[in-house]
Amino acid sequence: MTSRFLDEDHELAHLEFTPGQPGGSQAVNLPILQGTLGPSVLDIRQLYNETGCFTYDPGYTSTASCESKITFIDGEKGILLHRGYPIEELAEKSTFLEVAYLLMEGELPTHKEFQPFDQSITLHSMLHEQLRNFYSGFRRDAHPMAIMVGVVGALSAFYHDSLDIRDPQQRMIASHRLIAKMPTIAAMAYKYSIGQPFMYPQNHLGYAENFLYMMFSTPTAPYVVNPIVANALDKILILHADHEQNASTSTVRLAGSSGANPFACMAAGIACLWGPAHGGANEAVLNMLKEIGHKDRIPEFINRAKDKDDSFRLMGFGHRVYKHYDPRASVLRKACYEVLGELGHQRDPLLDLAKELEKIALEDPYFIEKKLYPNVDFYSGIIFQAMGIPSSMFTVIFAVARTVGWIAQWMEMIEDPSQKIGRPRQLYTGHNLRHYSPFSERKP
Ligand code: ACO
Repeated sequence: MTSRFLDEDHELAHLEFTPGQPGGSQAVNLPILQGTLGPSVLDIRQLYNETGCFTYDPGYTSTASCESKITFIDGEKGILLHRGYPIEELAEKSTFLEVAYLLMEGELPTHKEFQPFDQSITLHSMLHEQLRNFYSGFRRDAHPMAIMVGVVGALSAFYHDSLDIRDPQQRMIASHRLIAKMPTIAAMAYKYSIGQPFMYPQNHLGYAENFLYMMFSTPTAPYVVNPIVANALDKILILHADHEQNASTSTVRLAGSSGANPFACMAAGIACLWGPAHGGANEAVLNMLKEIGHKDRIPEFINRAKDKDDSFRLMGFGHRVYKHYDPRASVLRKACYEVLGELGHQRDPLLDLAKELEKIALEDPYFIEKKLYPNVDFYSGIIFQAMGIPSSMFTVIFAVARTVGWIAQWMEMIEDPSQKIGRPRQLYTGHNLRHYSPFSERKP
């Protein structure tokens, strides 16, 4: 491209560029789209038709893949809004199920609207009894995320009456089933891994309470859920509920764009979330803190993170979108102090280590220059550990929360009349045309 200028009066961008192929320079006018908030967006849908060129953007660093009304992030200012409401207000004043309703329906519910939704989630929380057999096919030492990918995908084999994505009623039932059953599936994955009997959900318990009950109770003794732990979990679920077009949500949208059923799409989202660069980071943060072990070793790990020849990264630091403090990390940092205090873990050595690491990193020119701030995963692992949740379940809980965002985004996509199958193009740098030769003619 040789030049670019924005013609704001006409809401058109005028691009002039010289393609590598013969034909000289080309010019094209592209519409500029303006959202409610956020940067302008160049509409390049006609670019290929008009110029024969594609755009190149690995990792989608400058590409809006869809139009959405659900979540807004300003990464420079550290702002996160769900349907317009700041995450800080939702985390402080709302509940996870209310946020789920908000994300899916677009508005906070009235009491009358919320009751049937709450009731529907409660009544869908049990799993088809035959699904219990499915678990025994996994090795005992299977990672719970591996089990989640398998079992959530397998829901499509059990709930045939909610697979028709063109039917709004079936879409709604599938959505309620997914939100309701995720905690049950997750708790069963944990119980299976430790060899304890599965516990059925309890209809009188709230969403977070029920999950804790299914994870920690046994048939042999009464179990009372600690309200401090349940409240903390509910807040963590709110903080992880949605985050616009992140990797796993984009995966869900891409899988769904072919018309795949919602259970298969959620399994795809879980698979993507598992990666350590995404949802797997909270488990990785705790492992890293344990590996560092003592604050005297922090400089060694900071130096490793800065070394281009070392693949080590400071887990829980950096974000594709946030170039400022992740607002979810700010809420979690505060919650972390409160919860650890309430649970009597004021002097948690990992929290002390995390605080020191954060302080040193935030003063280091490398992290300042690259705008690497703690992200949501930096503190969640420490709270989870204080709550007695094993590290292999951290990403699973993230998946339980994010299911709501995946569903809201999937529903929005299906209901969008301009929705098409997602089909990116490529910059091909492989061989030119060549012809098959038999073994005898191939050079060694
Ligand atoms: N430690 C050290 N250096 C880092 C880190 C880190 N955690 N994160 C980014 N950098 C450096 C990179 O080496 C790169 O340096 P360079 O410009 O010299 O090449 C620069 O900062 C930009 O990093 P990218 O990887 O290009 O940024 P990207 O937006 O692609 O990646 C990501 C964002 C994946 C989150 C990255 O910061 C990372 O790997 N962080 C650690 C893992 C983590 O905490 N993930 C959770 C993200 S939040 C979530 O998914 C809920």
